[in-house]
Amino acid sequence: MPQDTLLVCILCQYPQTEEKRSGLSEGQALFNQLQNGLKTSSEACIRLQPVRCMGACSHACAAAFMAPNKLTFILSQLSPTDSVPDLLEFSRQYRAYSDGKVPFKERPATVKQKIHAVLPPLPTQP
Ligand code: FES
Repeated sequence: MPQDTLLVCILCQYPQTEEKRSGLSEGQALFNQLQNGLKTSSEACIRLQPVRCMGACSHACAAAFMAPNKLTFILSQLSPTDSVPDLLEFSRQYRAYSDGKVPFKERPATVKQKIHAVLPPLPTQP
């Protein structure tokens, strides 16, 4: 069975502010929150994979859903906290559709609002 994967950039950071106290990047915080959420799920989980930069640095936080023979969803400007429930819900939906084409109206609000790009599956060999 194809392995559905959620890539999360763990180096993504918001612009530095004086209020920023923790050394934890927003991307690492998002990854940690998703990891915790997936641990408590009773369903089979999407594979969570950390990435060190996806080239969307000025649009932190960045993440992508991908799997063989499925659409790839690239998301940006994700909150490391508020986006987590919607990303977990979309993980479940993405796994449920064999082509990854979760109907727009069914997608959680964060996914509707934060899509940076949607890529078709790679062509298969004839
Ligand atoms: S640091 Fe996250 S996309 Fe570059």
